[in-house]
Amino acid sequence: MDIKQVFENNKKWIAEKLATGPDYFDKLGQGQNPELLYIGCSDSRVTAEELMGLGPGEVFVHRNIANMVISIDLNVMSVINYAVNNLKVNHVVVCGHYACGGVKAAMQSADLGILNPWLRNIRDVYRIHRNELNAIEDEEKKYDRLVELNVQEQCVNLIKTAAVQKAYRDRNLKVYGWVFDVHSGKLIDLKIDFEGILKNIMEIYHLD
Ligand code: CO
Repeated sequence: MDIKQVFENNKKWIAEKLATGPDYFDKLGQGQNPELLYIGCSDSRVTAEELMGLGPGEVFVHRNIANMVISIDLNVMSVINYAVNNLKVNHVVVCGHYACGGVKAAMQSADLGILNPWLRNIRDVYRIHRNELNAIEDEEKKYDRLVELNVQEQCVNLIKTAAVQKAYRDRNLKVYGWVFDVHSGKLIDLKIDFEGILKNIMEIYHLD
């Protein structure tokens, strides 16, 4: 890859955007008002805006290995708090993807150094859903299911935050769990029961 090409691509992109309206970048420079927070995997195949057909200004994005929402990760927690409390997004999405290297690594016995504590959180998901996962004989299907369950558990982690609990109460913010199928390009809504999960965990995790 010739890195200079990136700057050539950028020039073309500017021209395309200006063709939609000469004040395109003037508007962009005035500020952002996204309605959606997207938390996805860093995987290069899983773009955020592109797969949703959204453009600059429409989605606040956080990506990390295996789309994790970890309560002591200052990075993801700052993003969630800023997006929910300041930008006032009304939709929060956790988007995982099939063939996720992070999820695969968590299913294997290997010492991956600094990645161990990160991937440990996925092993915890496996432990919580061990009975269901161990009953799946086909390794690929088991791997796909762990991707889905990991998305679901990261949604649960989102619901454990004071920011999400307060925004749900005050303005009916919603949390969604999706999976991107890299084999077909399809975005799949896992239809997680956001309100059911919220009711179920509030006995223990009620903060606000
Ligand atoms: Co991934």
